[in-house]
Amino acid sequence: MSEFEIRILTPEDWELYKSARLKSLRDSPDSFGSTYDQEAALSDAEWQSRLDLKLRAIDALPLIAEMDGQAVGLAWGLIHEPDLEIAHIYQMWVSPALRGKGIAKTLLREIKAWALGRGCDLMALAVTTSNEAAANLYRSSGFVATGQLEELRVGSALLVQPMVMELNSAA
Ligand SMILES: CC(C)(COP(=O)(O)OP(=O)(O)OC[C@H]1O[C@@H](n2cnc3c(N)ncnc32)[C@H](O)[C@@H]1OP(=O)(O)O)[C@@H](O)C(=O)NCCC(=O)NCCS
Repeated sequence: MSEFEIRILTPEDWELYKSARLKSLRDSPDSFGSTYDQEAALSDAEWQSRLDLKLRAIDALPLIAEMDGQAVGLAWGLIHEPDLEIAHIYQMWVSPALRGKGIAKTLLREIKAWALGRGCDLMALAVTTSNEAAANLYRSSGFVATGQLEELRVGSALLVQPMVMELNSAA
């Protein structure tokens, strides 16, 4: 079987990114704070500018996993405030047909290496409490639950558990 490859998305990749992200929102509506309807309404210019990190003046690592030229996974690392030294993880998704092959773990490893290189001492994310696959992924990668449960989105019955991993003491 072919190997997957991971690379950083650039503004030129906006159509590929749009397609993969919308697929992820349609496939896994309970996994993300955002919704398919919200993001399907974005203009092409908005998709393009999402990946224009210089224009947005943000420090982020937008990753895509590809196999045979197809997008098979996504994940973002994002540092909101450099002074806080926390790298947040968003948009983690792997194509259903290719789950269980280590793609998400590899995406996480890449974000961790990037976060360490940026001097972060913590990685943070939130996972829907009913999402066993993702919770296992994060636990087995060194994340621990912290803080109170929060609504997935305003008014949602679904709850998310914040999780963190300390980078200096992580395996
Ligand atoms: C969660 C998700 C990203 C995992 O992707 P993946 O590429 O299949 O994960 P990996 O193959 O790298 O698995 C890594 C670890 O995750 C856990 N895991 C993955 N799938 C699992 C499942 N179905 N059941 C239980 N644990 C699972 C295991 O601990 C696994 O380690 P192991 O193989 O050594 O046991 C994928 O299922 C997905 O895209 N789900 C829908 C979107 C989503 O929930 N995103 C997370 C938002 S917070």
